[in-house]
Amino acid sequence: MSHDLSGRLNRYVNDLFAREDDVLRFVRQQTEAQGLPLINLEPNEARLLQLLVMLSGAERVIEIGTLAGYSGIWIARALPPQGALTTIEKSSVHASLARSHFERAGLADKVTVLQGQGLQVLQKLVADAPYDLMFIDADKVSYPNYLEWAAKNLRVGGAVVADNAFWQGNIFNPSTADDHGMADFNQALAEHPQFESTIIAVGDGIALGVKTS
Ligand SMILES: C[S@@+](CC[C@H](N)C(=O)[O-])C[C@H]1O[C@@H](n2cnc3c(N)ncnc32)[C@H](O)[C@@H]1O
Repeated sequence: MSHDLSGRLNRYVNDLFAREDDVLRFVRQQTEAQGLPLINLEPNEARLLQLLVMLSGAERVIEIGTLAGYSGIWIARALPPQGALTTIEKSSVHASLARSHFERAGLADKVTVLQGQGLQVLQKLVADAPYDLMFIDADKVSYPNYLEWAAKNLRVGGAVVADNAFWQGNIFNPSTADDHGMADFNQALAEHPQFESTIIAVGDGIALGVKTS
């Protein structure tokens, strides 16, 4: 598919199915204004994630990689009244901006932002397992470790969702540590005895695994 056509189709989906409200627009504007990297999900990817949260009936969700809270708002809005999102962010600047955005979105009671390195924070969350869904969108080298955590700490029927599965094509000839992290993650997910999985060709590739045992 040509670049032009895929851009046009993305806009078509965004306009029809993934329209942002004032809060989401504000979060995107602030991400830029505060000098954070513009690496949040696109609306169509976030909408897909939101529907996966709904479809799986998730109540307890873990996200790794909060940034300014953009994807977290989409996730939290899909949760039932008793649902909760715990989102992990290594940068204190990102974490604090995200907290203010969850507040602004009226989601502060549903979302906990934990500041720290993903793998370290996850160790502390083991005590409260199992969880229903894990969304991975942080350091690429740790994706295989995040998958192993998900295998141990999601309930059967729960889902692991990961952004950047295509890694802009760098999974074909991995050279950097990040490239290898993504290629290894995809391979491990595909072969994992506890997951049924695929990659959905939206955005930079959204990997999805359903835990079956
Ligand atoms: C792609 S952005 C997340 C985007 C966010 N999910 C969204 O769509 O709005 C990745 C974030 O992960 C954070 N990060 C990177 N390495 C991390 C680690 N080891 N543990 C926790 N967070 C990390 C970065 O600081 C950055 O804010």
